[in-house]
Amino acid sequence: MIARLLPAVAVIALIAALIASGCAPPPKPTAGGSTTVSTSSAPADGDGTPSGAPAAKTAEEGTYGDKDGIPVGAYFGLTGADASFGQESVKAMMMALDEIKASGGPSIKLIVHDDRCNAADVPAVLNKLIKEDKVVAVVGEVASTRSLQGAPICQAEKVPMISPSSTNPAVTEKGDYIFRTCFIDPYQGYVMARFAIDRFTAKTAAILYPQANDYSVGLAKFFKEAFEKAGGQITAEEAYGKDQKDFSAELDHVASTNPDVLFVPCYYQDAGTIAKQARERDLSMPILGGDGWDSDTVYEVGGDATNNCFFSNHYAKDDKSEVVQGFVKRFTERWGAAPTAMAATAYDAIRILADAMGSIPDATDRAALRDAIGKTKDFKGVTGTITINAQRNAVKDAVVLELKEGVQTYVTTIPAPDKQ
Ligand code: PHE
Repeated sequence: MIARLLPAVAVIALIAALIASGCAPPPKPTAGGSTTVSTSSAPADGDGTPSGAPAAKTAEEGTYGDKDGIPVGAYFGLTGADASFGQESVKAMMMALDEIKASGGPSIKLIVHDDRCNAADVPAVLNKLIKEDKVVAVVGEVASTRSLQGAPICQAEKVPMISPSSTNPAVTEKGDYIFRTCFIDPYQGYVMARFAIDRFTAKTAAILYPQANDYSVGLAKFFKEAFEKAGGQITAEEAYGKDQKDFSAELDHVASTNPDVLFVPCYYQDAGTIAKQARERDLSMPILGGDGWDSDTVYEVGGDATNNCFFSNHYAKDDKSEVVQGFVKRFTERWGAAPTAMAATAYDAIRILADAMGSIPDATDRAALRDAIGKTKDFKGVTGTITINAQRNAVKDAVVLELKEGVQTYVTTIPAPDKQ
């Protein structure tokens, strides 16, 4: 995906971000992790553009796009534990809607529902979208645990579902109406195992992961498999509980096994805390994570402890390509902060859906729409060139980013050996 990166681009992006923020220190994150929340947001009007300046800073439940357009549903967590996932995704989709319209794409009415980052809320949210709003397709979720709740419902109702960013392989295994436009975790686990070995000549690794998160459990397992397959040895596998904030016991055990790297496939809220507590007990080795680390909250919580931390992701915002820089610029102008990978993946997902809708005579024919999504080939996305394979997953490369004083910096791209 990434040809070459000019360090100058990163500098320019940083300067642009500083200018955009009025050179002020970054605002404190909210519970949801967004750094740019304004509750005085002007809600989007009927055509999906914010009505009047300043631009809305939070995404909210509601109907966007053409009010007489073809109904498409979106289910995301806009409030709750990891709300920045949903916030970023919906903001990017609102931007994409305007662009789809401007380029003569299908007329879409996007109906956005908040599942409050709660898997138990997903059935009710989807039933409403499917039964009341009569959507032709659904975009969602980010978190694999919630997509795993939603997929069987969409499959049973024969409503195509596209997850922009759920990487657990089981999501699309729920049936032939379930797609994703991102890579999957066997590959992501391989990427970080390969990176640990290539970059740090790691021979040993410890793993620390939250046991209640399907994504984390899967990614821990896939990393382990790939690392061992390449001749590495896992010294410790530590699972932690929901809402745990003190990782002393787990980290003490990790320290006693003296691994070359520590792999922590958690979401962003825990990553900073874990890095901090690891460094406090002299665990100075590289700490590695996955896409769940993509939020400025990691640095806001972990500070300098997050130096020497690396994570795999769907795109690098310092990628100098025009498609990435154009997206970053437009998103930043509209929302006041640079987009994370969730924004990039959701932007691609809805554009792929619109593309499929536009390729068939009747976009309300769900079976035809399913077939059209499955035929997606070489779609030029912000997160790479996307082809949907026979398992309804996207085939594309992952990037590895380094946190340098909190700035995500592109390190490398690790192609899958067999392109998954
Ligand atoms: N891949 C994560 C999951 O499946 C969700 C995620 C995507 C998190 C992108 C951050 C960025 O649960």
